[in-house]
Amino acid sequence: MRPTARASARWAGLATAVVTVLATVASGSLSTGAEAAPTLVPTPAPADAKPVYSDAAALGKLMFFDPSLSASGKMSCASCHSPEHAYGPPNGLAAQLGGADLREQGTRAVPSLRYVLNRTPIWTHAQAASLSERLSETDNAPVGGFGWDGRFNYLHEQATFPLFDPNEMANKDPAALLAKMQSAPYAARFKEVFGQNIFADPTKAFTQAMYAIERFELEDPSFHPYTSKFDYYLDGKVQLTAQELRGKKLFDDPAGGNCASCHIDQPGVNGAHPLFTDFNFQALGVPRNAELKANADPKYFDMGLCGPLRKDQADDKKNCGLFKSVSLRNTATRHVFFHNGRFHTLKDALRFYVQRDTNPQKWYPKDAHGKVDKFNDLPVALRVNVDTTDEPLTRKAGERPIWSERDIDDVAAFLATLSDGYDLKAKQPQ
Ligand code: HEC
Ligand code: HEC
Repeated sequence: MRPTARASARWAGLATAVVTVLATVASGSLSTGAEAAPTLVPTPAPADAKPVYSDAAALGKLMFFDPSLSASGKMSCASCHSPEHAYGPPNGLAAQLGGADLREQGTRAVPSLRYVLNRTPIWTHAQAASLSERLSETDNAPVGGFGWDGRFNYLHEQATFPLFDPNEMANKDPAALLAKMQSAPYAARFKEVFGQNIFADPTKAFTQAMYAIERFELEDPSFHPYTSKFDYYLDGKVQLTAQELRGKKLFDDPAGGNCASCHIDQPGVNGAHPLFTDFNFQALGVPRNAELKANADPKYFDMGLCGPLRKDQADDKKNCGLFKSVSLRNTATRHVFFHNGRFHTLKDALRFYVQRDTNPQKWYPKDAHGKVDKFNDLPVALRVNVDTTDEPLTRKAGERPIWSERDIDDVAAFLATLSDGYDLKAKQPQ
């Protein structure tokens, strides 16, 4: 439904690659590899940049890993955003269990915090000025913001959600949180950094605490290591295997997988390594997930942009069912996929894309009349919002899926090159 923004992003990426190739030809250093263009982009490795590390960030780090800041006393930010799992979930649960007794289930899968935090644009959904522009789809697509529904613009705002959400860290109020902070081992340090009397002003203390978490999330290099095989490939330090390259081709092909139109894999204008997301919103029609307790109520629907967690976009029914496109970096290390955690293997997530329309009976249950209840995680009237115009989501029941099982293996192999911690030395031919 939103081809304009994506198409232009895609062309911008291609234009960059073309310019780079031309510049390289001019300088006489063009090599002849088939996939030469990306490897030629001179990339200033962000990981090499001198790290800034503020006192606030150091405190934020202590808070991020501190389970005493929860009602249970056992859950920290890192319980769900595990640093050993690319700051994603440490298990395959569709949604994690939190609350005072660690038995309350959330309603969404935990996203990875790697890479996106300092590059997520502020939420925008600028309305086009004229009605004709609005009708012609040049109306800006919604983009950016934190959360699957983009409802937080700043990390310091976002952090207040898990700290007080009854299904997560479940603190009663800021006063309860500040009381815990005052008896934390880093309380003295907090006073040194923010002022000896900081806790006497609860509003100010709370603001500084959220700011500290934000600084940690923005400044700590562990959130953006750029140590995947794909990063080294972009830097020309390693080649992809024939299978990985084949997977990349399938991923890129606009008439095939078309994945790169939303999960951008071209370096940015300044040579920045790609994050495999365009931060746009889309309704993919992911099947309802019975693993979520909230879904026991047939009237409950998580509709992303139009609620229930997000409140400000509910009036525009076109927003219902749309969720933010996520980064596919480290996706091969996950055991839970999509906003509702419906899939538990990467290959199933890929199969869903290419077989959603060709084999709907495989993904959706039958309704009372024996008809396949396609897009069953949205109320019937809102199912028109589901994307059926972008490849590969355009096919009809009974047609051949755009990818074979072998293709799926190849794309999965390509996506596995996005996992951090590739050992460049061990794999280098001598
Ligand atoms: C119980 C599990 C859990 C805990 C604990 C938790 N989170 Fe999350 N986190 C999630 C889930 C689920 C989402 C997606 C939420 C949504 O879309 O509404 C999320 C989303 C986020 C995002 C947005 C990421 C993006 O790309 O949009 C950030 C940032 C974040 N969490 C930081 C934190 C911080 C900081 C803490 C500790 C104060 C924390 N989380 C504690 C489960 C958790
Ligand atoms: C039209 C834009 C669009 C296209 C095309 C697209 N995606 Fe996505 N992708 C999204 C959005 C939006 C989400 C999150 C949707 C949700 O959870 O409801 C997503 C989620 C995913 C996830 C789950 C990641 C996670 O951490 O949960 C995977 C894996 C994925 N996409 C792979 C692909 C592959 C492979 C292709 C090509 C076959 C593809 N995508 C094509 C927009 C797109």
